[in-house]
Amino acid sequence: MFMKKTYSSLNAQLKNSCKLLCTLALLASAGQLQAQSADHFFNKSDLMPIGSYYYPEQWPHKDWERDIKKMAEVGFNFTHFGEFDWAFIEPEEGKFDFNWIDEAVELAYKNGIKVIMCTSSPTPPAWLEEKHPEVLMVNENGITMQHGSRQQISWSSPVYRQYVTKMVEALAKHFANDKRIWGWQLDNEPSHYGLYDYSPAAQESFRKWVENKYKGNIDTLNDTWGTAFWSIRYNNFKQIRIPNAKELVAQPSPHAVLDFKRFSADEINDFLSMQYKILRKYISPDQWITTNLMPEYAPTDPTRITSLDFNTYTKYLVAGYDKGTGPQGFRMGSATSISFANDLFRAQNGITGVMELQPGQVNWGKFNSQPMPGVVRMWIWHAFAGGNKFVCNYRFKQPLLGGEQYHYGIIGPDGVTPSTSGAEYIKVINELKQIKKDYDPNAKMPAEYAARLTGVLYNADNRWEEDNQPQTYQWDFMQHLMRYYKAMKEFGAPVDVITEDKDFSKYPVLVAPAYELLDAHLVDRWKTYVQNGGHLVLTCRTGQKNRNAKIWEMKWAQPIYDLIGAKIPFYDLMPDTVKGTIKMGVKDYTWNNWGDVIDPMPGTSVWATYSNQYYAGKAAVISRKLGKGTVTFVGPDTDDGALEKEVLRKVYTDAGIGLQNLPEGVILEWRDGFWVGVNYGAKPYLVPLKAGAKILIGKQLLNPADVLVWKQ
Ligand code: GAL
Repeated sequence: MFMKKTYSSLNAQLKNSCKLLCTLALLASAGQLQAQSADHFFNKSDLMPIGSYYYPEQWPHKDWERDIKKMAEVGFNFTHFGEFDWAFIEPEEGKFDFNWIDEAVELAYKNGIKVIMCTSSPTPPAWLEEKHPEVLMVNENGITMQHGSRQQISWSSPVYRQYVTKMVEALAKHFANDKRIWGWQLDNEPSHYGLYDYSPAAQESFRKWVENKYKGNIDTLNDTWGTAFWSIRYNNFKQIRIPNAKELVAQPSPHAVLDFKRFSADEINDFLSMQYKILRKYISPDQWITTNLMPEYAPTDPTRITSLDFNTYTKYLVAGYDKGTGPQGFRMGSATSISFANDLFRAQNGITGVMELQPGQVNWGKFNSQPMPGVVRMWIWHAFAGGNKFVCNYRFKQPLLGGEQYHYGIIGPDGVTPSTSGAEYIKVINELKQIKKDYDPNAKMPAEYAARLTGVLYNADNRWEEDNQPQTYQWDFMQHLMRYYKAMKEFGAPVDVITEDKDFSKYPVLVAPAYELLDAHLVDRWKTYVQNGGHLVLTCRTGQKNRNAKIWEMKWAQPIYDLIGAKIPFYDLMPDTVKGTIKMGVKDYTWNNWGDVIDPMPGTSVWATYSNQYYAGKAAVISRKLGKGTVTFVGPDTDDGALEKEVLRKVYTDAGIGLQNLPEGVILEWRDGFWVGVNYGAKPYLVPLKAGAKILIGKQLLNPADVLVWKQ
């Protein structure tokens, strides 16, 4: 009787969550990136044009011709104008002046350089904020951001949106069908650089967002947010405020926090979508519209920016934050950094580009080291390997004035001499020209590489929710994901970082790290994927809650028990001074971040067991066959990722998938018939080339910060 009740309640809960999922799926499909295929914007045989940002408004008029000529002379294919020029195109309210930028566009055109034109919404002019201070955003401490830098505005402000509409419309009309413009960038890194907006406009917009989400029914919101807890219970939507820990005595509702994160990401998408629609009314269908996003930067979630033709990313690796590999790693960044951005952005709809790639030393880091000589060139090639349609850099000339003094450009402070990294750009431009001769439009991905194709399933909801309720100071969702991702790259696997709207079946291996929030529909899809021959890897924290972060009224994480062939009675967390130990085969591993402790059901194999603590002997990693495929569940999150790597190795190997064994820091990827090797590691690596390989660039002994390009 008890069991029956439990299982019928399980079904009811899962069904309800399925209804929600169907709604979400509909929303997601309504918001897919605009172009089903953005392929037609790019000519495959162009491989990867290279460009550089130029700010005519920041330089004396007399320099423009010299600078743009220089840009053409050293081989850049395109430039990028205007993302910060609002005060120049609309110096007074309603008075637009495009003469100066016309002249710059014409200069570019005459020199054979295409233009990416931008909308300058991140930098509203002083007159606008003076007249309408209500457009300014407010940070979590209640401080109103002011004019004097950038992105100080609230995307939620209707007044700001009206001004943006007028400005974008004027720009779009002015450059309508202008063949000199290649494509468009909206705004610049819309992100508020990590700040969330608590302005009155954002409060109002959040209220509307939740009212819409809960269909005007405050009881539904109360139920979903669990407001019976601490009598938070709301009587109407007017009472809703953004959950802000800084103005609350104890923890906010985690369900409210999750909704706020979703809202904030949606608000950015909505703001960009508004601009997209205006531009699309006027510009040529041949011109694409994108924005540039930082892959890992909240409050933006690149996978929720769904209103453009495709998304591009910006990447800065050497700024004191990324230790990389080995003693000189801080001069190169991690091998996974560009790879992950490629694999996340390209997987959205097949098309991506790098809008900004670090052009050398920067000014804003924790410490601003010189990048390793050669590494800028290596990054560009790494971007090429990952399928990017273009690479651009911020910026052509080193600034002499303003908040980014000390930041390198392609051209140094004298305005004419290429910087060291500028010289590396020029080198790649020529190398890319050189390999065009070897481009084969019919090249097919080599079979043994394709066999390793791996999907990483990502939903920012899991990240937002777990990082809000980490349960241990050692939990970090992205680091957890990266332990698996890094192993895949060291096995030489091509990877797509995908969202749930994608078809799983093309991936022989699918890893869904720490997938805490789910529903019956997703569990069913996973099951079907496995039954049809897929190899699914699930990890700790998976399946504990429904999509609104409510813990299932069932056994802990019960919705995945049938799938994984095991129960998860509890999890453990430890201080970083205590090492938990795990035995897998003859090897020992350590952990102390997170450990799901597992009770396998009959028919499930135990791959690893906890070997200390009071649960020594209990399963830590299990695997089972299901239909034609397998499901593996990994209970622990370690620091060094060694256990995670061994588990993945066994999954691939047992599935008969051949692996490479690359040292940390070495990436080998294939694109359009070209193999590319890059080395972020500490030691030279002898790339294993097959008989008949033709080296196009570099040497088989791949040095740190160097590149090898070959055809097989
Ligand atoms: C980027 C930003 C650029 C510039 C650059 C400096 O993140 O989009 O506008 O600030 O950093 O490194």
